[in-house]
Amino acid sequence: MNTSRGPCPVPTARRCVIELGVPKETHDRERRVAIVPDSVPKLAKLGFHVRVETGAGEAAGFFDAAYEAVGAEIMPDAAALYAAADMLVKVRAPSLDEVALLKPDTTLISLLFPAQNVELVDALAERSATVLALDKIPRISRAQKMDVLSSMANIAGYRAVIEAAEALPGFFGAQVTAAGSTPPAKVLIIGAGVAGLAAIGAARSLGADVRAFDARPVTKEQVESLGATFLEVKIDESGDGGGGYAKVMSKEFIEAEMTLFREQAKEVSVIVTTALVPGKKAPLLVPRDVVEAMAPGGVVVDLAAEQGGNCELTRADEVVVHNGVKILGYTDLTSRMSGTASRFFSGNIHHLLEDMVNDDGFHVDLEDEAVRGALQVLKGEKLEPPPPPEPPPPPKKAEPREVPVKAKKEQKKSGAVGTALGLLLALVFLALGQVAPSEFLQHFTVFVLACFVGWQVVWSVSAALHTPLMSVTNAISGIIVVGGLLEAGVAPGEHGYGLAALLGAAAILVASINIFGGFYVTQRMLAMFRRH
Ligand code: NAI
Repeated sequence: MNTSRGPCPVPTARRCVIELGVPKETHDRERRVAIVPDSVPKLAKLGFHVRVETGAGEAAGFFDAAYEAVGAEIMPDAAALYAAADMLVKVRAPSLDEVALLKPDTTLISLLFPAQNVELVDALAERSATVLALDKIPRISRAQKMDVLSSMANIAGYRAVIEAAEALPGFFGAQVTAAGSTPPAKVLIIGAGVAGLAAIGAARSLGADVRAFDARPVTKEQVESLGATFLEVKIDESGDGGGGYAKVMSKEFIEAEMTLFREQAKEVSVIVTTALVPGKKAPLLVPRDVVEAMAPGGVVVDLAAEQGGNCELTRADEVVVHNGVKILGYTDLTSRMSGTASRFFSGNIHHLLEDMVNDDGFHVDLEDEAVRGALQVLKGEKLEPPPPPEPPPPPKKAEPREVPVKAKKEQKKSGAVGTALGLLLALVFLALGQVAPSEFLQHFTVFVLACFVGWQVVWSVSAALHTPLMSVTNAISGIIVVGGLLEAGVAPGEHGYGLAALLGAAAILVASINIFGGFYVTQRMLAMFRRH
């Protein structure tokens, strides 16, 4: 694909040789555009001349003038665009009518869901197209930057919570006002993949009390790190299907989670469902009776509406009201944030194309795992799916660590020292009990206990936390200063200042060193985190 054609709008080391077409999306609810103006100069540097169908970006807030300002060419209609393009970049899969407009040998990059669109893939192969399905890019670290599904799911998860907040007849966060107070809304998130985690983050930041469930136990840590509670079922089955995706769960597991959701539904006012097993119909997890267990005013947002829904009552693109509970089945959550979604989509495409262009121009590298995963048709030839990426090795079980012989000896030695110290202290207390006044004995006991507690605190805290611990001990030093002032401030007796006053002064000095030293160290620590 190294045909030299078209003007070069941006000065670049390479010549502009690839005509890249950006059509206006034709799907009813689609408001995203595949390439935004910001990406045009970056694509020009890679050797693409961008042509945009007039009005393609309008619904996302990107007008023709903005594209023209960065060197893109505006095409009057789809037919003219398709006729001029070597490569077409779309958001949604093309319709059969759009496929008919494709020139032979064109490269198409878009979401495709090939397993669900076999007829479409056949039609594309007939036009000897090369087709890359963005939804088939494997979820591997290297391909994260081009992973459209993840960037869109992140937006959808956030937006699902915003829609829920709009539909809920109350606050998400707790409120205490003169007119009355309300506790935080309780929110249940089912599925803690990309969309689920984004939904947890959004609901938490609105102040809700969030709990989440996922079939993959590895998500527990991520859920908890976002401040939500991870729910579990008492059935030993992991949903890990490799590559960050779930496998289809057993009937018993689904039954167990539904029982859990039935209980939760009595408490929560919002349920967001995001459960998905790639390439399969969405698992049914919220049956009618779970919705009926919710109080009127409750909201269910079903992200899987397009794949059949996680909730029995979901109807795609509709709001169903059942017993006063609203079930939102929006399939256009990303289009409801079309500006940001288009920017992220465009960024993903730029990264994919960057990967596919070298000094000789654009080429399809079958050795590239991300490209091979996405590639469905190569110059009219339908390809078998590549073998799935190797699942990561299962985490090793932590083996009980052998205590080294030297450490064992040291443990014994320190145990002996502790016993000897204890005995010595007991003897000192016995002796003092005979001679010292009871008031002294009381203070001495506090002193010994303070030494013991201080020693335990310092040695039981990991070394990495000693510096912040030192800062915190400033508060204790403050108390010592007050005590020292009281002792040192007594009027001199007939023999001048007594021992107590001198000890008080010494205590003030030592505690002050600790306080000012603590402030100094804290200051230095904060400076390390400050941006210059
Ligand atoms: P993902 O694969 O990252 O996450 C799905 C999660 O569901 C996984 O963590 C998986 O372990 C979990 N899961 C699977 N079966 C389960 C079960 N039986 N019980 C509990 N958890 C289970 O998927 P991602 O990217 O987060 O997408 C989530 C959903 O959002 C998908 O259905 C996707 O199509 C949809 N979506 C919807 C949009 C809309 O506008 N409505 C836009 C973008 C995505």
